[in-house]
Amino acid sequence: MKIILLGYMASGKSTVGKCLAKARQIPFVDLDKFIEQQEKKTIPNIFKENGEVYFRLKEHEYLIELLSKKEDFVLSLGGGTPCYAGNMNAIITAKNTISIYLKGSLKTISERLQYGKENRPLVAHLSDSELTEFVAKHLFERSFFYEKADMKVKTDGKSLKEVVQEIELLLS
Ligand code: S3P
Repeated sequence: MKIILLGYMASGKSTVGKCLAKARQIPFVDLDKFIEQQEKKTIPNIFKENGEVYFRLKEHEYLIELLSKKEDFVLSLGGGTPCYAGNMNAIITAKNTISIYLKGSLKTISERLQYGKENRPLVAHLSDSELTEFVAKHLFERSFFYEKADMKVKTDGKSLKEVVQEIELLLS
């Protein structure tokens, strides 16, 4: 089974994904890292040099490529992946695939995003006070797509171990 983790930026997709893949003894793939390897450029540089539309096209292409693979793996998406190019439909309808929304509150996400925001082109230019306002609006728009996931796990106040255990329980 392919396990797809989705959710807003800084919701813990990669950290949880790595840990879950290790526990299940299957490979872990981070879509952003996969894009960077294939394009031989960092995400901020892709945004800067090619623009967001190019990034969204490549994100869609690589997602479809990964979904079509036979092997099982855990895949963590970028925060925007489910919201463009019919990606969420492709995920829901893909064979042998289960999607999980890692759901953090506005407060938790905004706090976590303040650190390391320079590597995230969509928020890098925002001050801390602008960030909360931006995330509130963005989360509201994106939740429509995130909520289509097969399963949801609330992450606020939970340790990595607790989140992974909860996912294991849901999958059992
Ligand atoms: C994006 C999230 C990023 C990355 C890109 C765009 C988004 O991934 O794909 O910067 O649109 O939310 P993370 O969710 O891993 O930060």
